[in-house]
Amino acid sequence: MSNSNLSSRDAAVVWHPFTQHQIEPISIPIASGKGAYLVDTDGKKYIDAISSWWVNIHGHGHPYLAQKVYEQALLLEQVIFAGFTHEPAIRLSERLLSHLPPNFERVFFSDNGSTAVEVAIKMALQFFHNQGNTKRRKILAFADAYHGDTFGAMSLGAPSSFNAPFQDMLFEVEFLPSPQDTQACLAAMSSLNADDYAAFIFEPLIQGAGGMKMYEASTLDALIRMAHEKDMLCIADEIMTGFGRTGKWFAMDYLAEKPDIACFSKGLTGGMMAMGLTLCSDSLFKSFLSEDRKKTLFHSHSFTANPLACAAANASLDLMEKEETWASIARVESRHRAFAATLKNHSILKNVRIQGTIIAMEIAVGEANGYLHSIRDKAYAYFIEQGILMRPLGNTIYILAPYCIEDEDLAYIYEKITAFAQELI
Ligand SMILES: Cc1ncc(COP(=O)(O)O)c(C=O)c1O
Repeated sequence: MSNSNLSSRDAAVVWHPFTQHQIEPISIPIASGKGAYLVDTDGKKYIDAISSWWVNIHGHGHPYLAQKVYEQALLLEQVIFAGFTHEPAIRLSERLLSHLPPNFERVFFSDNGSTAVEVAIKMALQFFHNQGNTKRRKILAFADAYHGDTFGAMSLGAPSSFNAPFQDMLFEVEFLPSPQDTQACLAAMSSLNADDYAAFIFEPLIQGAGGMKMYEASTLDALIRMAHEKDMLCIADEIMTGFGRTGKWFAMDYLAEKPDIACFSKGLTGGMMAMGLTLCSDSLFKSFLSEDRKKTLFHSHSFTANPLACAAANASLDLMEKEETWASIARVESRHRAFAATLKNHSILKNVRIQGTIIAMEIAVGEANGYLHSIRDKAYAYFIEQGILMRPLGNTIYILAPYCIEDEDLAYIYEKITAFAQELI
């Protein structure tokens, strides 16, 4: 079936996420994917420069991941996870914990990034509630934060056009300044009334949807130290940064101070299946143990610890444990660094920054930086036309490709970024 046929059928019945259907182009029907490429139903290829919303760390159509999910599907596709368990979930928990700092000892399953965050917040608030502490009800987050689209996760996100229609219904969260301003953050943290806060949540090292804003590990270390002195729980939202994306297994591996709770999703299953995880210490887990059932963590989803998703995550871990994956991660970073060097004095590609496999920059034209910047739609259309899937965050363009992307595909993307900028000068 052709693009135009499918696109018009889609336009008649489907409501797409983050899409203004009145003004955005019709959706492109994708028939298949292989490695860093997506292929539409007319046969046009697109380099997936954003790993399809940051999930496909090993690329599309990976035969090993597919095989493992298939094998699991023949054995057990789904089972209720309350009162029952299964080997793929146990193995995944054991393996993941072995890659994390030793204070992480328990794994709670859910099914996407936002739910992993919801669980983290519930764990933190109920941790204090279970001990009879009724004062610690507030959460601390960063300016420009993004933690998902459910109501709890929206509350933790910086007030923005994303959550404006619901702003009056979100719970109260205190926002520190941008973590790029270390002094302002430290000052704000030290002036907080410590007894009011249950938790401090952050995207370690890179604020993704907020504009790929990068900041120093030393700033976060200082803030975690202060938060711990104030007895707050620290929650690392590693939903975008986990599984090699920043050049190490996890962004928290760059930190000296360790968080108490961590959230994972996206790259967790290599992009095969939807899954979220919230990990915490044994002492936090034990604070929920009681003869009193009211101290239970009452949270579940139908597909909690779905065996197919666990099989995909275990298979993705197999790939993550291979040296060649780390060689690819290092190669992508070095390609980005070489490209960044060529942009040093560029007149409109500014603030070029790199963290592991992520490179980001601003197109400095027109109005101030921001998600609704008018250059966004033009840039998106241009790159699609050139066979590259990029989704600029306003005037911030970034590459967050599968680790298997070939050098020549990276070179092609770099060339098209500079060609696009050239047209604007
Ligand atoms: C840091 C971070 N947290 C949470 C989420 C929400 O994840 P999901 O879209 O799977 O709900 C995202 C999604 O982009 C994210 O980047």
